[in-house]
Amino acid sequence: MKKILTWVLVAVAVIGGGLWLSQTKPAEGPLSAGEIIVPSFTALAAEGEKVYLNSCAACHGVNLAGTNDGPSLLDFVYRPAHHSDYAFVSAVQNGVTAHHWNFGNMPRQTQVTDEELVRVISYIREVQRANGLN
Ligand code: HEC
Repeated sequence: MKKILTWVLVAVAVIGGGLWLSQTKPAEGPLSAGEIIVPSFTALAAEGEKVYLNSCAACHGVNLAGTNDGPSLLDFVYRPAHHSDYAFVSAVQNGVTAHHWNFGNMPRQTQVTDEELVRVISYIREVQRANGLN
């Protein structure tokens, strides 16, 4: 009897673990807008979302989904380990010469203040984390 219980517990752990892994698996390609998980934001990120919608969404898409003018920031290449927060600061302050894609260059976004930059980065990271990009 005890043995059966042990096996049941093992099975639950394995299935549960598998489900957890499949949910947090990073995106292999851009997610379509409907697949994106939108988390509930910290106060800082909620402020950042406003900045994002004003200054970034036209190219990077609502919920980071990407558009014809810019890549999805949920692409695996933009995970924190590959594009640090500094890469975000630099992109906004200096612009980006096209090197990953064929969308063209990103113009620098001089209207974004330092405070707004901190907020918009937390917003982007919170959406990334919710979608398995750690
Ligand atoms: C006019 C369109 C446009 C706007 C507006 C824009 N971007 Fe971009 N962004 C791009 C394009 C295009 C690329 C990809 C360049 C490449 O690597 O080919 C890019 C790349 C980036 C990168 C990657 C930089 C790197 O080191 O590879 C970051 C980070 C980024 N954008 C953040 C932002 C943020 C944050 C905002 C808003 C404050 C923003 N972008 C607004 C078009 C835009």
